[in-house]
Amino acid sequence: MALAIDRELLQRFEEGLNTLYPERSAIPATILGYGEISTVFQLQHAGQGGIAFKRMPIFDTQEQVDHYLAIYRDYNDLLKSAGLTIPEHDAISIKTKNAGAVVYAAQQRLLPESIGNKVIHLVSGDGTARLVLAVLQHLKKVWDFNAAHHDIRIGIDGQISNWALRQFDPSNPGVGSSPELFYIDTSTPMIRKNGTEMLEADLFLKSAPSFLRWMVRWFFLQDVLDRYYDFRLVAIDLIANFHKEGRPDLIPGLITSVNDFFAQEARDYGIKPIEPREVESYYKQDAFIWRLFLALRKFDRFLKTRVFRGRYAFILPGTIHR
Ligand SMILES: Nc1ncnc2c1ncn2[C@@H]1O[C@H](COP(=O)(O)OP(=O)(O)O)[C@@H](O)[C@H]1O
Ligand SMILES: [Mg+2]
Repeated sequence: MALAIDRELLQRFEEGLNTLYPERSAIPATILGYGEISTVFQLQHAGQGGIAFKRMPIFDTQEQVDHYLAIYRDYNDLLKSAGLTIPEHDAISIKTKNAGAVVYAAQQRLLPESIGNKVIHLVSGDGTARLVLAVLQHLKKVWDFNAAHHDIRIGIDGQISNWALRQFDPSNPGVGSSPELFYIDTSTPMIRKNGTEMLEADLFLKSAPSFLRWMVRWFFLQDVLDRYYDFRLVAIDLIANFHKEGRPDLIPGLITSVNDFFAQEARDYGIKPIEPREVESYYKQDAFIWRLFLALRKFDRFLKTRVFRGRYAFILPGTIHR
């Protein structure tokens, strides 16, 4: 695509990166957002400010990198075929002395206020309801695509922080009657062909400390992956996440609108109504998984940097607020 990524600059960025304090790196970076397993940032450098980068230091071999890049492209293309709109994007790999090969997924940088988890704090409850309805309509396109292809399944993470309003004016915030959305979380490609996950699931786990990978794999991985292929669970996840995003007050109304959507626009899927109880228990379990995951990663980082005096490969959330 037409993103002008400065490969040589990224190479220098990678070599001078301070993973503990990214803003103190040789080429400073500003964090744009944290996902559950990644950090998205912008480089402080002329010409690259319009790009959001996500750094993925999870690969051991060039083969893995090439495989990932191919699936990343497939995933973006499939989402487009399903009818979603994705910002301009590209992914490149950088060879490093420290970490083998690191992939940088790049995307046209969007207005921070236009991202769903910001929007829900800027607009009325009705505006948020319209946004969530638009998200459901976009998700339905994915399930319609899946229903029309017997050998292929696309998985998707519907959380509100993964969508952005294409037209959004922060000085006059609002959500129109049929808002156009970008889907932005495309760097964890979930594609199943004839039932086989295209990206080895273990790659998703590379950011977990090695001492607990077996445990995560055993207890959570299949569940966590399966949920992205199930419309009802993706909707529960979307709603439950309003706890984490600081708008639990909206949850009861959202449950009603999701159930209306399932009963009407998406009735062909015969999805049974979501109960408030399910949203609550799902949230507790999900929050527990990710909190545990982050805590253990921080412990692992402590071991690697303080005890063994080595370099830690990842930038973790919660390290830049001091
Ligand atoms: N293109 C972009 N422009 C601006 N901010 C972005 C962009 N892409 C991601 N972000 C920010 O980073 C956060 C995490 O990105 P995302 O792709 O959803 O990663 P994850 O897979 O870790 O959830 C987003 O919720 C958003 O706040
Ligand atoms: Mg995300």
